[in-house]
Amino acid sequence: MEQTLSIIKPDAVERNLDKEIKEMFKNNGFSILNEKKIQIEKSEAEKFYKVHETKPFYNDLCAYLSSGPIVVMILEKDNAILANRELMGATNPVEAQEGTIRKKYGISIDKNSVHGSDSVENAKIEIDFFFKD
Ligand code: CMP
Repeated sequence: MEQTLSIIKPDAVERNLDKEIKEMFKNNGFSILNEKKIQIEKSEAEKFYKVHETKPFYNDLCAYLSSGPIVVMILEKDNAILANRELMGATNPVEAQEGTIRKKYGISIDKNSVHGSDSVENAKIEIDFFFKD
């Protein structure tokens, strides 16, 4: 079994989509091992997205993630990282396949409703970031 970090982003929480998105994870065989609804400071978002710090969208991305409540979850399943990336769909919702979370709920490349870890190494770092107390 593998674990991955999932975030339901402010645009989805604001539209009360967190329950429906969690159902999609469960219906696709994920167990939610831990979850919490929180709002983070911009400085924490900057730490979380540090890997993107040289990108032109970094400042807006961090402002956005800290703009409202988010739901952070540890998801578990065989090959959870890849399975989650498939279920989320392409980063840009207009490129996402039918049936994916971002196709269904994403508004734009920024407001794309969910985040998921992209590798085993980052999953561990991201899970520790939110759940290591
Ligand atoms: P996420 O999976 O949370 O990882 C970084 C986020 O940056 C990504 O989803 C997008 O919401 C956001 N982003 C904004 N602009 C871009 C871009 N041009 N390319 C990739 N990600 C972008």
